[in-house]
This record gives sequence, C-alpha cells and structure tokens, in this order.
Amino acid sequence: MLYNEPSPLEIKVLTRRFGLPNSAHIDTYLATDGYKALRKALEMTPKDIIEEVKVSNLRGRGGAGFPVGMKWSFVPRDSPKPKYIVVNADESEPGTCKDRLLMEFDPHQLIEGMLIGALAVDAHAGYIYIRGEYRYLIDILDKAIAEAYERGYLGRNILGTGFHFDAYTHTGAGAYECGEESALLESLEGKRGVPRIRPPFPAVVGAFQCPTILNNVESFCAVPPIIRDGGKAFADLGVPKAGGTKLTCLSGHINKPGVYELPLGFPVDKMIQEVGGGIRGGKKLKAFIPGGSSCPVLTAAECEGLTMDYDAMAARKTMLGSGGVVIMDQDTDMVKAALRIMRFYAHESCGWCIPCREGTAWLRKILQRFSDGLGVRGDINLIGELAKNMLGRTFCPLGDAAALPTISIVEKFRDEFEAYLTRQPPPSRAEEPLRVIA
Ligand SMILES: Cc1cc2nc3c(=O)[nH]c(=O)nc-3n(C[C@H](O)[C@H](O)[C@H](O)COP(=O)(O)O)c2cc1C
Repeated sequence: MLYNEPSPLEIKVLTRRFGLPNSAHIDTYLATDGYKALRKALEMTPKDIIEEVKVSNLRGRGGAGFPVGMKWSFVPRDSPKPKYIVVNADESEPGTCKDRLLMEFDPHQLIEGMLIGALAVDAHAGYIYIRGEYRYLIDILDKAIAEAYERGYLGRNILGTGFHFDAYTHTGAGAYECGEESALLESLEGKRGVPRIRPPFPAVVGAFQCPTILNNVESFCAVPPIIRDGGKAFADLGVPKAGGTKLTCLSGHINKPGVYELPLGFPVDKMIQEVGGGIRGGKKLKAFIPGGSSCPVLTAAECEGLTMDYDAMAARKTMLGSGGVVIMDQDTDMVKAALRIMRFYAHESCGWCIPCREGTAWLRKILQRFSDGLGVRGDINLIGELAKNMLGRTFCPLGDAAALPTISIVEKFRDEFEAYLTRQPPPSRAEEPLRVIA
C-alpha cells in the first residue's frame, strides 16, 4: 500500500520508520533503537513501567481515550489466573486507516509494545486481533513475529532474562462490532461476536475469563518510545491532559488526504489548510467529523479556534475518537451524508440489542425515504427522537455511535432536511404513494 507524502508539520514518533527501506524488517528496527525499550523495561519493576506510562498521559487511541497507564493498573497482578495481552487491530471505524500503516511499516514496534505491556502485568501470551480484510498485514505481522522468535525477543527466556511471551495473530471476519472490546473477546474465543455486559471490564475478566490488557494498535505502538525516552518527553509533545502525538487520518474533500502524525492540540484550521493542503476546489468547509463516523459532526463555525485534543472536542460536545477526520465541503448534501452513515450502522449492528438492531434499521429506512424525496415534515423530528431513544440503551456503544452523528446532523443542518420537503420527488418515485415504512 502507498503511504502519502509526509507533511513537514508532523512530529514523527510512532511513524519515524515509515519510508525507510525494508522498514518492517527486524534489522531495520534494531538499527533504529528497536527493542531498546524492552531491554530497559526488563530492568524496571512492573509498577515503574505502569508509572512511566501514566506520566506520559497516553490516552487510548482506539476511540474512547481512556488513560492507558490507569487501565493497566487495574489488572490484578496477584490473580492466580494467566493474564493476556490483546491488541485491537480491527480498525473498523469509518474514516480510520492508521493502524494498518503502523502494522505494515513498523510491526516490531507493535510487538515491542505488547512485550512491555506483558512485563507490566505479568502476561505470557498476546493476540493481535486483526480484521480479515487486512490479509496482507497478517502476513507481514506473522513474518515479524517469526523474526522476533528467531532473534530471542519472543518465546522462552527472552534475552536470557527468564521472561517468556508468545505472540499470535488472530483473524476476525470483518465485522465492525468485533472492534468493540467485549465482542472482540467473544470472537477471539471462537464465539459469535456480540458484546458482554460490563462490569467486569476486560482488565479483570477479559480473554478466556482472565485479566487482560486490551488496547488499540496505536496505543501499544506508543509504549516503546515512552519507555525509551521517558514518559515526560512524550507527555510534553501534547497538551496537559493528553500526551504525545496522534495519527490523524484526513479524508473527504481535502487536497492531500492521508495519515499524518500530529501533536495533540494541533489547530484544526492549520491541519486542514497546511497539512491537508486546503479543501478541494478551493471550496468552503461545511461539516467536520473529528474522529470517525461515530462522533457528532461539527459545523464550520464550531471548528473555529478548535484544536485536535480530547478535552477541546468534549467542550464542543464531540470526540477526538480514533483520529478519522472527514472533511465535507460546502456542496455536501447532509441528508445524503446522514443516510450514508446510517446505512453503515444498520448493516453493522450485530443485532444483539433491540434498540440498536431496530433503531438503526428504522433510521436507515426513514433516511432513505427522505433522501428519495418522499419524506414528510414529521420525519425530521422522528429521526431525531428515534436516535435519542437509542442513546445509552444498548450493551455496547454501537447504538450511541449510530445515534450521535445522526442527532448532530439533524439538529445542525435542519434547514437542509426542510429544503428536501419542497423538492419534487424524482420522476420514477413521483407516482408512488407516501408509504408507511415497511
Ligand atoms: C462498535 C465499536 C467498534 C469499535 N472498533 C474499534 C476498532 O476497530 N479499533 C479499536 O482500537 N477500538 C475500537 N473500539 C473501541 C474498543 O471498544 C476499545 O475501547 C479500544 O480498543 C480500547 O483500546 P484503547 O484504550 O487503546 O483505545 C470500538 C468500539 C465500538 C463501540
């Protein structure tokens, strides 16, 4: 896969090996400080490793932004059960395409992150749960794992220290729901990928009912630089409550789409103009998805003075999410955008909880009818109400993920829905009576 031209505004910490010849090979990794952090971690106490990760202010890069060090500290080290490391490499959030690059160009960084996590919680086995569509990456990861075994970084008696750790890839079948941590664990165990009730959380009852660290690929990849250069150096790159850099995936109506590693707190307008080269065709911004399709959409006005960090996004009632930024220009049809998003969620709802299964299906139907020019005035409120009724009523946040962008689009772009009502239905549909949704 081709990697976009880097931007001079990037701070390359996790992506610093991208572009090196043979960057995925262990020799390249070792020649560029690879496995140095592991050597350091092998001399540290588990408590000190977790403390260093806490100091770094690393927050989970999979979407929710939960502090990684804190999550690791919840694992009961004294439990007699085995502990596991699970990497969430499902990368299913629309707009997100960063983990694939980390695995393609620097798989050893991920393996080293898993090893350090294992030292922190006394785990001896780890799984990279990767979506089935990433077939080419599974081969790259398997090769890197084999290299690590060959050189003594995996397996028994790692670097002569007596520590042992085995790593495996595990293929999913490409279901969005299997990116949700508890459904992922079900799937990893060979069961149908549906969510579990929480608590207990995976740190206490995770894979095979045992304590488990489950983090996103990017979260694990941040760990070697944190241990190597110190948590403070990483923290200093970002903002007070969120350290480091974030891989940001720029897509949509932008001149230079791609994945860019930007420090947390990077201004949104600078990102669009200087990193992304501005909006395609010199057009104006209409709407902005900050972190994957499950985040509430922002208007252009709401993006003014906004920075790419968790708290700044929360203050505007949206989320930094997974870093999947989608730019929509002035000509974007927001009714069609809402329909496109809902088609995804209706297709991907696992069907386990009724509000999500039924809610997404009904919303898709109403939005389809509306976008076909067959909507009625009451539909606009109905869409908003239906979406609000899903919020917080499902086992996992997929229901919220479908509802939040929908609510934001209906509320912020209501005029576009109103305008649809005055449009002529397309000729093929003009004769059809307004049907009750079947
Ligand atoms: C429907 C759904 C899909 C998700 N998909 C992903 C995914 O593809 N990758 C990911 O890392 N996290 C995904 N998450 C978030 C995970 O449940 C979990 O919070 C995350 O893997 C934890 O890692 P982190 O703390 O390092 O971010 C998803 C969540 C939901 C509700």
